[in-house]
This record gives sequence, C-alpha cells and structure tokens, in this order.
Amino acid sequence: MTSQNPVFIPGPTNIPEVIRKACDMGTIDHRSPAFARIFRPAVDGVKAVLRTTAGEVILFPATGTGGWEAAVSNTLSPGDTVLAARFGMFSHRWIDLCQRQGLTVQVIETPWGQGAPLAAIEAALKADTGHRIKAVLATHNETATGVRSDIAGIRRAMDAAGHPALLFVDGVSSIGSMPFEMDGWGVDIAVTGSQKGFMLPAGLAILGLSPRALAAMETAKLPRTYFDFADMRRSYAAGGYPYTPAVGLLNGLATSVQMLLDEGLDTVFARHHRIAEGIRRAVFAWGMRPYAASPDLYSDTVTAVSVPEGCNGTDLVKLAASKYDVAFGVGLGEVAGKVFRIGHLGMLTDVMALAGLAAAEMCMADLGWPVTLGSGVAAAQDYYRNANTEAARAAA
Ligand SMILES: Cc1ncc(COP(=O)(O)O)c(C=O)c1O
Repeated sequence: MTSQNPVFIPGPTNIPEVIRKACDMGTIDHRSPAFARIFRPAVDGVKAVLRTTAGEVILFPATGTGGWEAAVSNTLSPGDTVLAARFGMFSHRWIDLCQRQGLTVQVIETPWGQGAPLAAIEAALKADTGHRIKAVLATHNETATGVRSDIAGIRRAMDAAGHPALLFVDGVSSIGSMPFEMDGWGVDIAVTGSQKGFMLPAGLAILGLSPRALAAMETAKLPRTYFDFADMRRSYAAGGYPYTPAVGLLNGLATSVQMLLDEGLDTVFARHHRIAEGIRRAVFAWGMRPYAASPDLYSDTVTAVSVPEGCNGTDLVKLAASKYDVAFGVGLGEVAGKVFRIGHLGMLTDVMALAGLAAAEMCMADLGWPVTLGSGVAAAQDYYRNANTEAARAAA
C-alpha cells in the first residue's frame, strides 16, 4: 500500500509536492553555469533563513551528523577542550563525536527534560581563566525530549564570563521551524540538515559559519578532507563543488527556502507554535504531559509525551505503524518506553495535526490506556478554531 498519511516523526518530515518535483530533475553538468543558477539561490536563501549577513553558508552532501563533524574538524585541534551539556540523545551524540575526534569534552551532566543550564555554563567559563575551552556546544532543540534551549541566553552567559570560546549550535530540528538568529545570538557555527525544517529528503548537511569560525580554520589541526571548508570555499568562489554535488537536493533546497521566505519566516514560526500548542493542549486533555520540565522549554517542533504509569510509548508507536500506517517517534535512550514523540514540524497544517492526534487516540484506546476517545482532538480543535480566528482578525 502506498500511504497518503503524513508522518509525525520529528524528521524526516513530510515533503511538499513542489519540493519533491524540484528534487526530481534530469542530469545536468555540475561544472556548468546551469548548476550555479541552482546553487546560488539555495545558498543565499539559507543565509536568509539563518538570519545571517555576516556569515557564510556551506552545504555538504551529508546529514546533520556530518555537519557536526565538519564544524569540529575545521575549527579545532587534537586535545582541544569543548564545553557541552548532556540532556538528551542528540546532545549525547555530539559529545561522543567530539570525543571520538580526539577532543576533551567538559560535560555538564543535566537531567533529561531540562535545557542547557545557563548558570552552570557561565560558571564553567568563568572558572576557565586560561581559556582552555575553545568552543561551547549547544543543542538548540533536543529532539529526544522535546526541549528547546535558550541560545541567546548561552551567548549572554559567554559574554558575562568574558570568554572567547566559539559558539556551535545544533539547529537540526529547529532551524527553519523555530526562531533562530545566527547573527543576533552570536552563533559561530549553525548546523542543520535538509530533512527537517527544510522539508527535503535527508542528504544535505547545512552549515552557517561566522567570520570567527572561518578564522579558526587557519590554525585548526584536526584532519579533514571531504569536509574541508577551505576546499569548499575555493570551489564555491568558482561556482561549484570540489566533488560531485547532490544537484537534485540543491534544486529542492532552492525551492524550499523560497517557500519559507514567501510564507515569511515569522509566519512559519507562528504556524509551528500554533500547531505545537494545539498538540500540547491535546496531551494535557489526555491527562498526560510533555516530558519537557517546564513550559519555557517546550519545543515547537516535537513533543515527547510522557505516558501513564504501566503504559509503554513504544507499543503505541508500533501499533500506529502496523494498524493505522502512521509514524510517530519512539522514546530514545533513557526515555525509551517512557515517552512517545509527536513530530510537528515542516509542512504541517492544523488539519494534519488533528489527524495525527486522532490516530494516537485510536492507538491509546486499542491499547487500553486510560484515555477518552476524542478528548485530545477536541482540545486541539478548540484551540485551533480560536487561534485561527485571531490570526484571521490580525490579517484583516
Ligand atoms: C537535534 C539533532 N541533532 C542531530 C541529529 C542528527 O542528524 P542527522 O540524522 O541528520 O545526521 C538529529 C537527528 O534527528 C537531531 O534531531
């Protein structure tokens, strides 16, 4: 069966028809001017989405993880220290990658469900009077727990400590869906992938690089070949790639950024917030709660739903897939079974969100969970009806 159902995993996200068509193109010569006509708007559009004018954008054929490796290997040297808080599977994996790259990671262990601990980051930086810490790593949106961290707050903490470390931000599940201000927040490297807010298939690592990050490249000694920024910049200046680019994906990216900018970034963020808020209303109506510890941490792209005692979130995900052909996200690592995740980012509408909530409720009823059919859907319907009235009034 070819399913028409949208997915509710926190990436890869649903691909709009217009983007799918843009990716599906015949072969062109990637060393010809035709390629530059695809590639330049994609790069310029990503700059606008990152909200950087000072920075540069590099697009690798890879995924977000490749973007992390590129960020680290181009700017740091073996034995360098980086500072990172661990509060979920993705912040953990970034730490693991740095350790495997031969870096020393000063880890601030933080309970899952919390965000980046600003006071502890500031204290660690203040204590580092010799400036051993070369970079602060921050996971903007911890996809495992549905927690958004305060990147502007991290920048304030770094400034308050008067520390010169670079700020690297994993925006894989936030960029293009939630407010992100590369220049405004003083982000030195922003990393994301094509398969979330950009609504494309996986296959591109997307990086924004500040002038300071580019300068760090001059002295960084970690080995890099495929991910060498210097090679990419040289080739970009000549209108192409040092190797064979993923042309179809880049064509899709040019379309994607145009879609985001045409809708208006603030409107895109407001849509994500509205959809997310409806989902949260449903979660509370079920008598459950988001795993994120407090409302200021709620993510507008993914909600990890804490399931009732005696229930297993993975059972719901498996049943949704086998019986209703709908995809939700399982709990990862420490929260396996304790949560299931609803991805609500990318090309999603209120109506699609309601369908996902209805499917989750059917699974809960099938599994004998203590939930009344329709309760979450009704709460979200109420919210969307009123939120849309307000949006319509504001637009009038
Ligand atoms: C926050 C975050 N960081 C990093 C990654 C890894 O990205 P990728 O799977 O594109 O390599 C993911 C993937 O879901 C993520 O959600």
